[in-house]
Amino acid sequence: MRLNPLLATISISSLAVATLPASQCTTGPVQCCNSVEKASSASVSKLLGLLGIVVDDVNALVGVTCSPITVIGAGGNSCSAQSVCCSNNSFNGVVALGCTPVNLNL
Ligand SMILES: *[C@@H]1O[C@H](CO)[C@@H](O)[C@H](O)[C@H]1NC(C)=O
Repeated sequence: MRLNPLLATISISSLAVATLPASQCTTGPVQCCNSVEKASSASVSKLLGLLGIVVDDVNALVGVTCSPITVIGAGGNSCSAQSVCCSNNSFNGVVALGCTPVNLNL
């Protein structure tokens, strides 16, 4: 019995979608943040205070006003601000905690 070429095409393309490691953080999509600063910075600590967020590590990077980047490489998607991977994005992108800068242009 021959392999159905249509099914083969579908499984190859879904594999391609599933393997975009450079565009993904282990914690979810790469975030594009307007700014990324240490939790100890004046503007970020004020914001965290307003939101009632307690950050244990004052040297941890916090992203401010972030949105997820879900499509990389399709149509020149870019982040003109700072792209980061954040371990905690429980605040709908208003702030994201535990961020690590990533370079999307590699
Ligand atoms: C994210 O951080 C907030 C504030 O520290 C905390 O309440 C929340 O449980 C954290 N969420 C995750 C998934 O770690």
